[in-house]
Amino acid sequence: MRRMIDIAPSILSADFAYLAREIEKAQRGGADLLHLDIMDGHFVPNLTIGPPVVASIRNCTKLPLDAHLMVAEPSLYIDPLVKAGVNWISVHVETDKHLNRTLSYLRERGIKAGVALNPSTPLHSLDEVLDQVDFILVMTVNPGFGGQLFIPSMLQKIRKLRSIITSYSYRVRIEVDGGIGLDNLQQVLDAGADVIVVGSAIFKADREASEVVADLKAISQKHLRLLETV
Ligand code: DX5
Ligand code: ZN
Repeated sequence: MRRMIDIAPSILSADFAYLAREIEKAQRGGADLLHLDIMDGHFVPNLTIGPPVVASIRNCTKLPLDAHLMVAEPSLYIDPLVKAGVNWISVHVETDKHLNRTLSYLRERGIKAGVALNPSTPLHSLDEVLDQVDFILVMTVNPGFGGQLFIPSMLQKIRKLRSIITSYSYRVRIEVDGGIGLDNLQQVLDAGADVIVVGSAIFKADREASEVVADLKAISQKHLRLLETV
């Protein structure tokens, strides 16, 4: 599988009153997909957007939509989100009691199926599903809020996951989420991540969001060229 690196702006830190405008900025900078954090106030102590808002977002961008479900009961939201037009869905291994069923269900519907892991959740919880997923979302902060500090020990977790994927030739991508920005992007790329979620570093920057996305994109493209020469 040819390696790609995707930059996925998370709108959690965007100005929700001007969402279309914020999304347009991310898009102008070269975003590859749009990360949507769906929180229900139960799995995490925060409440965000649901299917009706996602459907409106669908109408204002052609970017693939990546829904990260931080909810206690993922099965309640999958059909409505698919109907709203999302393209990728990740569910947390800590909350889905029937992961095998969920992942098959997503793939049957043409949705890229992902599993998300909290920082304290070990990689071996994925042992039985690695051949069923399109991507693994490694949380690099505890889920719930934007603007938190990257947990450095997650680099080792990403490296370990990359080595498992390589040694068994799984067609699985590694998404990383939380505390990532221009200062540590290279570190997560070196560890083996290839889908990079960035929230506050884009939307709370003291310069144009599109410029930050373009810079993130340039670093990842350079890294990709380097990978292709080795
Ligand atoms: C946190 C969310 C993230 C969040 C990342 O629970 O899953 O997607 O938006 O934001 P930053 O990049 O600010 O850590
Ligand atoms: Zn997220």
